[in-house]
Amino acid sequence: MNDLTNKTILVAGGAGYLGSSLCKAILSNNGNLSIADIDDKKINILLGALKIEYPDAKILSVKLDIKNESSITECVNTTYEHFGSIDGLVNATFGATNKNLENLSADDFNAANEINLTGSFLLSRATSSKMKAGASIVMFASMYGIVSPNPSLYPDGINPNPIEYGAGKAGLIQLTKYLAGYYGPQDIRVNAIAPGPFPNLIKDDNHNEVFINNLKNSTMLKRIGESNEIDGPIIFLLSNASSYITGQVLKVDGGWTAW
Ligand SMILES: NC(=O)c1ccc[n+]([C@@H]2O[C@H](COP(=O)([O-])OP(=O)(O)OC[C@H]3O[C@@H](n4cnc5c(N)ncnc54)[C@H](O)[C@@H]3O)[C@@H](O)[C@H]2O)c1
Repeated sequence: MNDLTNKTILVAGGAGYLGSSLCKAILSNNGNLSIADIDDKKINILLGALKIEYPDAKILSVKLDIKNESSITECVNTTYEHFGSIDGLVNATFGATNKNLENLSADDFNAANEINLTGSFLLSRATSSKMKAGASIVMFASMYGIVSPNPSLYPDGINPNPIEYGAGKAGLIQLTKYLAGYYGPQDIRVNAIAPGPFPNLIKDDNHNEVFINNLKNSTMLKRIGESNEIDGPIIFLLSNASSYITGQVLKVDGGWTAW
């Protein structure tokens, strides 16, 4: 049901923490993969690992700056010319500062949302122009596009999840619904997933035990998400198994938003 045979999936932000896990899952489900990211070093490390694990897979890597429209066009065209089709797009790029509300400038706010909003719009429009009926777009929203971060969960020294991020992700949910309505007549589906707490334990803030325990205790499952737990829901939304689902936000949050 979730098979991606003969489907080419472009993953923007594919070299990131959740994007990398998804790239692997796409190959495990027989898809062709185009990894697009701004970070060359992370792309090369991921590409090297994937080529060893999946020697027969069709993989392309493309440099992308989602803040730059000509970079978006080049990334989409390169992927299309290489594979001859684009059947799925996942946007796993990340735009946020680590600043508190008082210190956040207008430029900071706008720069983050050039990624979360403007870039997401431009990338979706450019990619959908190459898509055929049956294609699927999946946006990474966030539980913080649905509910606000509770400041009491953040111990001293850790900034609550910043305002420009949640505002951008809330906007991305609306963008998802708008695009679903716009592209629906072409049978191109557009959905979002809203992850809950998937802290990358390599990052410094995520070593704070009190913080991690607060995250765990805010979920119904009493644990943080493992990176590969995001894969199944996205593969489902990319595959024909979800052919009548569009305009939806699938929460993958251990129950955080259901209390
Ligand atoms: N990890 C979580 O707990 C969590 C929770 C909710 C939502 N999300 C969302 O999931 C997605 C992936 O998050 P992650 O934790 O893997 O983050 P990450 O920072 O590890 O990955 C994001 C990737 O986007 C790339 N990127 C940043 N700016 C870019 C640009 N201008 N152009 C192209 N690529 C760019 C980065 O190089 C990185 O590889 C994001 O949209 C994030 O908001 C994550």
